[in-house]
Amino acid sequence: MALSEKTKKWLKKQNISLSGKTVLVTGANSGIGYKTVETAIYLGAEIIMACRNIEKAEVARENLLKDYPDSKISIMKLDISDFSSIDTFANEVISNKIDIDVFVNNAGTFHRKGITKDGFESVIGTNYFGVYRLTEALLPYLKSLPHKVHYFNTISLVYKYGKISFDDFYYSEKYNHFAVYARSKLCLAKYTYYLAQKYQNTNLFFYMIHPGTTITALAAGGFSEFIKNAANAFRWIFNSPEKSSLEMVYVLANDLPSGSIAGPRLFEVWGYPKENRVRKLVKEGAEELLSFTEAELKF
Ligand SMILES: NC(=O)c1ccc[n+]([C@@H]2O[C@H](COP(=O)([O-])OP(=O)(O)OC[C@H]3O[C@@H](n4cnc5c(N)ncnc54)[C@H](OP(=O)(O)O)[C@@H]3O)[C@@H](O)[C@H]2O)c1
Repeated sequence: MALSEKTKKWLKKQNISLSGKTVLVTGANSGIGYKTVETAIYLGAEIIMACRNIEKAEVARENLLKDYPDSKISIMKLDISDFSSIDTFANEVISNKIDIDVFVNNAGTFHRKGITKDGFESVIGTNYFGVYRLTEALLPYLKSLPHKVHYFNTISLVYKYGKISFDDFYYSEKYNHFAVYARSKLCLAKYTYYLAQKYQNTNLFFYMIHPGTTITALAAGGFSEFIKNAANAFRWIFNSPEKSSLEMVYVLANDLPSGSIAGPRLFEVWGYPKENRVRKLVKEGAEELLSFTEAELKF
């Protein structure tokens, strides 16, 4: 389905073109990632969809090509919960010298109790360790590119409720879906802010984006049919995936400083994007977290 007139009007106001730029989006076959791709195509970008399921990605590409027949969309395989897939993907980007201007780490998981192939709790293993490993693998290459690279990590409003404790990092003693998810996104926020400080005055710019609350497969997953039906009935109070996909454009159009957070305008939950305050809990404690992470991942 093509972008709504409201979205097109909002995009026009941003006064930005992505023509000549390559935008890579992970988890691009559905939800907010799919709409991020569509928005980028609308603004003229060439697209790389990095997806774990190539068949689903092909279907998504076919749908996009129906509305944007002249667009250039390629697909790469990436499972962000699997280190061997991440390493293969990163090697492919580097060895083929794939040029990337905007990188959007959108793929993520919620309510998925389990263990990744590499033996980590699945939500933290995917949302934080996966993005960490991919980012560390790509950074030297991205830094060598002769132009700016804008690097986005998708967090969540619930990072505010996240707590970091290294005693039971994976909540293995008392598993709680919400707490694990919030922790995974807070870790990602701290890491992103840390990178922004570390790479100041380079070609690399790091941002946190979050979509407020949006009904997608991810948000609905794990809830009972009753809750899903109730949420559906009140769909209008949530942001649509389309509105939630605009944060990246907002950051680029407004040239926000590296280390910024963009999220919905109203209470950081609803509406078009704006810059959100970077809270103290994001700015502090990254060193301890990163030492722990390096030890866990044995870099
Ligand atoms: N929806 C919300 O209210 C909300 C709120 C806060 C933050 N977020 C964040 O927004 C991002 C997008 O979520 P969404 O709501 O658009 O969910 P979605 O519709 O379920 O889309 C998630 C996408 O990520 C992909 N994905 C999941 N695990 C993956 C993996 N291991 N490797 C590669 N791709 C993977 C999925 O691919 P498959 O189709 O193969 O599963 C799908 O394309 C996530 O990072 C999420 O945490 C969403």
